[in-house]
Amino acid sequence: MMDMMTGILTRRSVRKYTDQPIPEDVLEAIVDAGLHAPSGRGSKTWKFTVVTNRDKIQKLASAIAEELNRTGYNMYNPTVLIIPSNLRDSKFGKEDDAVALQNIFLAAHAYGVGSCWINQIQGICDTDRIRPVLDEFGIPADHVVYGMAALGYQEGDGGIHEFERIGDVEYVR
Ligand SMILES: Cc1cc2nc3c(=O)[nH]c(=O)nc-3n(C[C@H](O)[C@H](O)[C@H](O)COP(=O)(O)O)c2cc1C
Repeated sequence: MMDMMTGILTRRSVRKYTDQPIPEDVLEAIVDAGLHAPSGRGSKTWKFTVVTNRDKIQKLASAIAEELNRTGYNMYNPTVLIIPSNLRDSKFGKEDDAVALQNIFLAAHAYGVGSCWINQIQGICDTDRIRPVLDEFGIPADHVVYGMAALGYQEGDGGIHEFERIGDVEYVR
């Protein structure tokens, strides 16, 4: 397995997936990485809903598409969708779920699984179109969803772009 720095520097968002299923043990390891993320005050009020049924993933994508009026939106048709949710009133719920997502992306990459952050559900998870789908998935009514992880094996060459460091850095010595 690749070392951690190589993983961090070579992970890239993947937006095209094959039909190849992710083995159960690999998926469990990826979810476990999410569960090991840091959380504000160690509260860990999150829940991870792992949807492995592509029709059900597309049911959620269609509800989002309708809500946002986006024809053809399919969340890149991943093989698996991980939905971290968190207590609506959790002070750090958004941050906690975000770091869990990054752990998930990096773990997926370590196992050769592609991933992408899916953000469109943010702010609309309580709408009449979306909430019934979340209810069906067993996401608690007092939880909200900020972002989700699309997962699957990358279709195409998967070439890693040359690493670019973007953003200002200043060392104050
Ligand atoms: C908060 C956040 C929201 C994002 N939402 C989406 C999204 O909805 N769809 C998408 O394709 N990528 C999304 N991304 C992925 C970014 O577009 C991507 O990380 C960025 O372009 C850098 O590319 P890289 O991940 O390949 O390094 C999101 C990333 C973050 C951190």
